[in-house]
Parts: sequence; structure tokens; C-alpha cells
Amino acid sequence: MCFEIRKAVPRDLHAALQLDKEAFGVDAWSILDYAGVFSFRGIKKFTALVGGKFAGFAAAEYDAGRKAVCLMTLAVRPEFRKKGIGTALLKRCEEAFTQTKYFLTVDCENRSAICLYEHNGYRQTGVIHAYYLNGHDAFEMEKDTDKCRI
Ligand SMILES: CC(C)(COP(=O)(O)OP(=O)(O)OC[C@H]1O[C@@H](n2cnc3c(N)ncnc32)[C@H](O)[C@@H]1OP(=O)(O)O)[C@@H](O)C(=O)NCCC(=O)NCCS
Repeated sequence: MCFEIRKAVPRDLHAALQLDKEAFGVDAWSILDYAGVFSFRGIKKFTALVGGKFAGFAAAEYDAGRKAVCLMTLAVRPEFRKKGIGTALLKRCEEAFTQTKYFLTVDCENRSAICLYEHNGYRQTGVIHAYYLNGHDAFEMEKDTDKCRI
């Protein structure tokens, strides 16, 4: 399947919000959260398109406190999953920064996402108990690509 990843634009906001609701339920972000994501230039955000149709969304920002890039959100519409789009969105987020360290939190019961992250070099570094509103713990995962290594 052919897909395209491009920088997200304001008209993607509602599709991204809808996908977030479908994917994350009670833990979905609000429209205000998404307005912030789309307003703040420091947040790099990308949209996946299949045949011009919205297929997925991801966003990341640099966390100065942790000196690492935080993958804030990643989701692909159900009908377009398992075709490499999630991986492509993740890579595009990573490539948008010069930093070498990345981190994220993921629901400990979200096997498909954990597999995707592990296959892309992320390792579990911690557990945050009852992190999500659904009551689940979060796994913290990190990756250091050390882009300067020759
Ligand atoms: C997690 C999520 C983003 C993955 O998106 P995706 O587009 O399915 O991801 P990919 O296609 O890149 O990879 C998923 C799997 O499909 C496989 N795959 C990739 N391309 C494929 C292809 N052409 N044919 C068959 N399988 C393929 C990958 O090997 C991968 O397998 P793995 O799970 O064993 O690692 C998606 O399931 C999703 O949106 N879930 C709900 C939201 C969510 O949980 N987000 C993560 C929050 S932390």
C-alpha cells in the first residue's frame, strides 16, 4: 500500500482528534490539547495519508529537562494498520530532531505499540503505576541512537 507522510497542517486537527478518541478512549486528549499541539511550533507533527485520505498522526517535542525527545502521540486508523505507517510516522518524528535520545510512555497492555517500539530500538526503562485514566500502568521506553557515532 502506498502512503505519504507529510508535516501536519491545521486542517488535520479534527481528524487527528477523532482518531485519538477512537484509539485512546478515556485517555484521549481534548480539543484544547490538540489546539496546543497544532499551535506550538516546537512540537513536530506529521500526518500519514493513503490516497489523499487521513490515515495516521504523530507528534513529538524536545524535553529540555530530560535532554531527550518525547514521542507525545502516535496513532494509525484501524483500517491502515500493519502496513508500516506507524513505523514511518515514528521514524519521521525521530528524524525531525538533531537530538539522539528519545523517550515515550505506553500502556503496559498495548502489545502492538510495545512491539513496534521494541522493533525500532526502544527499551523499557521504567514503570509508572496507574498512569492512565483506564487504570493501567505505563511503561517508560527510551532509545539513544547516538547519531554522531561513526
Ligand atoms: C501502535 C500503532 C500506531 C501501530 O501502527 P501500524 O501502522 O500498525 O504500525 P506498523 O505497520 O509500522 O507496524 C505494526 C506491525 O505491522 C507489521 N507490518 C509492517 N508493515 C507490514 C506489511 N506491509 N504487511 C504486514 N505487516 C506489516 C510490522 O512488522 C509490525 O509488526 P510487529 O507488531 O510484530 O512489530 C497502531 O496499532 C495504533 O494506532 N494503535 C492505537 C493507538 C496506539 O496504541 N498508539 C501508541 C500509543 S503509545
